[in-house]
Amino acid sequence: MSEASIKANHTTYNLQSWSKQRGLNPVVIEKAEGIYMWDPSGKRYTDMSSQLVNLNVGHGNKAIIEAIKKQADRYCYIGPSYASEPRGELAKLLIELLPDNMGKILFTNAGADANENAVKIAKMFTGRHKVFSRYRSYHGSSFGAGNLTGEPRRYPLEPGIPGFVKFFDPYIYREPLKFGSEKEASDYYLYKLREQVIYEKPDSVAALIVETVTGSNGVIIPPEGYLQGVRRICDEFGILLICDEVMMGFGRTGKMFAFEHFGIKPDIVTFAKGATCGYVQLGGVAVSKPIAAYFDDNFLSCGLTYSGHPLACAAGIACVNFYKENRIIENVVARGAELQEIFKTLKEKHKTVGDVRSIGLMGAVELVKDKATREPVVSYGKDPEGVMKKINGKLAAKGFMTYTHENMILVAPPLIITKEQLAEELQKLDEVLDEVDRMF
Ligand SMILES: Cc1ncc(COP(=O)(O)O)c(C=O)c1O
Repeated sequence: MSEASIKANHTTYNLQSWSKQRGLNPVVIEKAEGIYMWDPSGKRYTDMSSQLVNLNVGHGNKAIIEAIKKQADRYCYIGPSYASEPRGELAKLLIELLPDNMGKILFTNAGADANENAVKIAKMFTGRHKVFSRYRSYHGSSFGAGNLTGEPRRYPLEPGIPGFVKFFDPYIYREPLKFGSEKEASDYYLYKLREQVIYEKPDSVAALIVETVTGSNGVIIPPEGYLQGVRRICDEFGILLICDEVMMGFGRTGKMFAFEHFGIKPDIVTFAKGATCGYVQLGGVAVSKPIAAYFDDNFLSCGLTYSGHPLACAAGIACVNFYKENRIIENVVARGAELQEIFKTLKEKHKTVGDVRSIGLMGAVELVKDKATREPVVSYGKDPEGVMKKINGKLAAKGFMTYTHENMILVAPPLIITKEQLAEELQKLDEVLDEVDRMF
C-alpha cells in the first residue's frame, strides 16, 4: 500500500487518541529495528520515548518474537480457569522478581484495568470504600482508572466516582514554599497527607495509589523520606499502599521496580508496559501474601476474558529473561548517569531549561520563559499557538521522536540504547534547545 493510502486510511477511519482529528499528519512507519524506525522514504527516526514508554527492549527483539510464534503454534488462547504453562510460569517469574511479601498475580489486559482491579481487590480485602490518589498522576483512561487519574485527562469522566479523593504530590520545583532540604519537603507533604486522611475518616479508606515515580506528568521523583512516610501513614491507618509501576516497572528507573529505590514494600503492585514491551499487550496486579490468602476462602470477584493471554504471557517470559540475560538494568544505570550529566549541562547552557529531572532512563526537560520566575512556556491545556507541538516538530525533523506534556519534553529511550546512540540523540536535543532559546 502506498504511503499516501496508509495515511489516508488512518486519518479517515481511525480516531486517534488524545488529539483533535483535523489536520493530523502521522508519520508512516515502514520498518523498525532496535531503537530506530524508518518511514517509506527511508528517513530514519530514533524512538526516544520507547513509543509510550513501553518498548523497553526496542523493536524487533528476536527472542520475544520467537516465543510468541512458538506459543501460537501450540495454542493461541485458553480461558483463565485452565492451567496454562505460560500463565503460571510468568506469574512465578514475577513473584520471584518482586519483594518477598508478594503472593500472587492477577493478569489484566493493560495498565488501566490493572489499576481498576487493584482498587477492587483493595475494597474487597479491607471492606472500605475510599481511595486516595494524587492530582499530578495518570493511572489510565478507562472509567475507573481515569477517575484515579488526577490531571486534566480526568475531566471528561466527571462527575467522578464517589470516594475517590485526591491529594497533592511533592512537586518541589513548582512549590511556592521553599524548603531547606528534601527531608523538610517530605515532612511537609506527609503532614498534609496525614491530616487529609484523618479528615476523610481513616477507617473508610481502602487504599492509597501512587505512581512510584510520577511519569507522564513530569518525572517527579519522590524526595528523601517521602514514600517511606506514605508507607507509615498507610500502616498507621490500615490502608493498603498500591504502587502503580505501569510506566516505571521493568527497569526503566535503574531497578526492576521503582519502589526498590526507596526501601518500601507495597501491598499491591500494578504493572503493564515493560512486562511485555508491547509485543503483545499485558498488565497485571501483584498482591501481598495476606491479600492472596484472603481470597483462599473469599470469592475473588474479578475477571477478564483475556486474563493471562497465552501469547502475552509467552512474550512476558521472554521479556523478563531478556532483561536478566542481557543485564539491561546495568545498562540503564550506566546510561542513566550519562543522561543526568548531559541534562545538567543542558540546564546550565539554555536559558529556557528551567529544570531537568531524571531517574535511570526516564527524563523530563521543563521549559520556562524565565528561570527566575519559573514561568512555564505554556500552561496545561493553554497552548493556542501550538508552541510545544512546534518544538516537538523540530525534534522530529532531526529524527528525535518523543512526546511532550505541558511544558515538558520527555526523554525515555529504549533501555538497550548504547552510550554513543544516547550522546548522538542528546546532541539533537541540545540543538533544538538552542532554537527554543531564540523563541523566548
Ligand atoms: C503510570 C501509568 N499507569 C497506568 C497507565 C495506563 O496504562 P494503559 O494505557 O496500558 O491502560 C499508564 C499509561 O501510560 C501509566 O503511565
